[in-house]
Parts: sequence; structure tokens; C-alpha cells
Amino acid sequence: MENGAGPRGPGVLVIEPMGNAGRFLVEAADRLGVRLYAATHKDVHEGYPDRLRVALAGVCVTDLTDVPRASEDMAAFCRQHSIAGVAACFELFTPLAALLADRMGLPGNDPGLAWAARNKIEMGEAFAAAGIPAPRWAVAHDAAEAHRVAREHGLGRPLVVKPAEQGGSWGVSVVDGPDGMDGPERPEGAEAPDRLADAVRAAQRFTHAHPHGLELDTRVLLQEYIPGGEYSCDTVVSGGVAYPLPVVAKDTTEGRYRIETGHTCPSGLPAPLVRKVQQIAARAALAVGVRNGIAHTEVKIPPGTQTPYVIETGARLPGDNLCEVVEAATGVSEAVAHLQAVLGLVPDTVPSRTDAASIRFLLPEHGGELRRVFVPDLPGTHSEVHLRPGAVVPEPADSSCRIGHVVARAETADQARGLAERVAARSRVEMG
Ligand SMILES: Nc1ncnc2c1ncn2[C@@H]1O[C@H](COP(=O)(O)OP(=O)(O)O)[C@@H](O)[C@H]1O
Ligand SMILES: [Mg+2]
Repeated sequence: MENGAGPRGPGVLVIEPMGNAGRFLVEAADRLGVRLYAATHKDVHEGYPDRLRVALAGVCVTDLTDVPRASEDMAAFCRQHSIAGVAACFELFTPLAALLADRMGLPGNDPGLAWAARNKIEMGEAFAAAGIPAPRWAVAHDAAEAHRVAREHGLGRPLVVKPAEQGGSWGVSVVDGPDGMDGPERPEGAEAPDRLADAVRAAQRFTHAHPHGLELDTRVLLQEYIPGGEYSCDTVVSGGVAYPLPVVAKDTTEGRYRIETGHTCPSGLPAPLVRKVQQIAARAALAVGVRNGIAHTEVKIPPGTQTPYVIETGARLPGDNLCEVVEAATGVSEAVAHLQAVLGLVPDTVPSRTDAASIRFLLPEHGGELRRVFVPDLPGTHSEVHLRPGAVVPEPADSSCRIGHVVARAETADQARGLAERVAARSRVEMG
């Protein structure tokens, strides 16, 4: 597929740009004069938003779940279109992107480590090998094994249970309190709940990933719970040299399901701790083999300590409109830097302003049919509603329940967060 239009600069093949970062890559390619191509499945391509479809210089139609076939199809496409860089937009395609870049002799990530950026069990091994502060962990195939290995590893409670391969908090549970002692709400004689078994089942619910149907590792990761504030920090790496990007504060729900409620840049951390987060995030990116690309790293900092523990890193641009938040606050375009890195160029990562931006997500109180959404329009903010009335919204257990978001810009982080929170608090989401 080809539309022939577009600039005549270097070509970059993006392995599945249909996620949140796609629109930022499109803008960045436009600014840099890069020809942007997509590798995807025919059915997924049919669902692309118009603005993505028209911005692409061409599409390599293949089956991304069939690695030999996808590699052949994409290699032929790269030769035909003189592709100069390869980028994965979904972390599940990190190994495929690294293999392709290696095969074509293009700048890319280490194919020998690329699985560590996709699979959280291999990631845990890579972090341990590199001495990166991370939660203690164990692996289980089922609930009985989960009980046993959690005990053997002394992981205690709360305990985090998550799928080996997934994103968006899908299947992630924080299990609290001992099983079988469930307090006064349990009717007399009723069986003791096994919350760990429930969490293992929730984590194993996903056997294939949306939208390509890629088969997932259904093993479950049990992790020690790290308390404290949560932050993210992205790292661009070009030619093996890490360039840190700004640190962002992340807010989530409490309780069993940890869903992002918003992000704010700058993070509000003192400068030495910002540098520490950036350094640990860079080490995490290098540990999972990022050599030419970007990584999105999430950390938590236990109260009273100066140690960021890495929760996860993904060798891809961030989701959640973080590209917009970071650029509004600092002037740095992560998508521009990413494209520069996959082309082997020095990325443009120097902040050009010191403003602030914050995003809040509109979440439903419970699942059901969306009846009506109202979001007030305050100066300094803009909002987007993702779903139409009539849409069926899942229970708020992961990020797929999001109804919309609001972004606020201001001079300071507190002002930006306050403004975005005001809009979110005055918004009305009516569910049927
Ligand atoms: N070990 C942990 N300790 C404390 N909180 C955690 C831990 N692991 C995950 N979380 C919480 O759950 C969220 C989702 O988990 P994460 O590993 O980032 O999965 P996903 O790939 O779905 O984003 C995190 O952002 C964090 O709030
Ligand atoms: Mg995460």
C-alpha cells in the first residue's frame, strides 16, 4: 500500500503505530521531514484513524504474529523503500524490531536482550544482572505455586501479582491482607477467600494480545510491594549513549487495581533525586538492550529513602499522552528524539522552557453503558472524550475504562495539577 505523498527525507518503519504514541510520531516525522511507514496487519490497518492513515508514506501489510513471515515481508519492504530506521511502538514488538534492524544493518536495539524489554520475567533477570534496584520477585504457573513461591521468597503482603507480558495495568492486582481472615463482612461459615488465587486468575486471563492476537506468556509474576511516590522517566539512547528526558510524577488509584489517574511534569522532586531517577532509568534502558531508541521507565521511591526502584521499563514511546505533557512543560519532543535515535542521530533532548503540564483521566465509578459526559472548558486546559454515549465501559480494573482526559498547562506543577484536577472534579460521567 502506498500513497506516494509526503516528504522525501529518510524513511522510518514503525512496527504498529496505532497506539497513543502514533499521533506524536506523525507530528514529529512531519517536523523532521521523515517518511513514516507502518508495518501492521490488514485488519488492524482498516481501523486506523484517518489522520494516521493519511500521514503514512506507505504500509507493509503482514502478520506480525508470524515472526519468520513478518521478518521476510518487512525486510523486502525496507529494501524497496530505502528504510533507514526501525521503531517499535508496542513493547510486545521490541524483539521483532531489534531482529529486523539487525538483519538490515540499521541502528537498533540488542536482539539478544530485546525479550527483556517485552517480558517482565526476563526484565527482572536483566535488572538483577545489572544491579538495578527493583522489587524482589518470583514466578508462578498457577495459584498453588503462587502461594508456595510467595512464602519461600518471603514476599509478604501487600503482594503485587501481574502478567509476564501485558501493559496498561491489565491483569495487575495488589493483594493485601492474609487469606482466610477476611474481617466482619464475611458471613459465618462462608469459605475463606483466596485473594492470591483470584489475582493469579486475573493475571492469566490474557492469553493473546489485542489487536494482533500475539500469543502471550501466561506465567505470573509476583512482586514485593514497593510503597511510596511513583514517577516515570524516559530515556533516549542513540549509538548506545543514553540521553535522559524529564521526570514525570504519576498518580494512580489505591487498592487492588492501580490505574493511572494522571501525570504531572515537572515531577516536584528535588534536583538531586531527579538526577538519580534519570540515571536509574537510563541504566534500566541499557540493561534491556536499548541502543538506538527510547525507553519508558516507571519507578517508585519508598518514603524516607533516595532510592528509585524500577517497576518496569518498555522500549517504546510512552502512552497516556505523556509526549504532549512533557513537550508542553519542557519543549522536548520525545517523538522527535525517538525518530532521531532510530536513525542513529544525536537526539534533541535539551529543554527549551520551564513550564508545567498535567493530565488527568476521566474514569467511571463502575462499568456499564456510557450515557453522557460533560467536561467543563477552563482557560489553560483542553480535553478529549475518547468514548461516545452508548459505549460499553468495563469495570475500572485497568486503563481500558478511560472515558477521556484533560490536559492543563501552567507556570508551576502545582498550578497545572490543580487546574486539571478542578476540571476532572467538575466533569460529569453518567453511566447506565
Ligand atoms: N512491585 C510493585 N510495587 C508497588 N506497586 C506496583 C508494583 N508493580 C506494579 N505496581 C503498580 O501497578 C501499576 C501497573 O504495574 P506495571 O508493572 O507498571 O504494569 P503495566 O505494564 O500493566 O503498566 C504500576 O504503575 C504501579 O502503580
Ligand atoms: Mg506500567
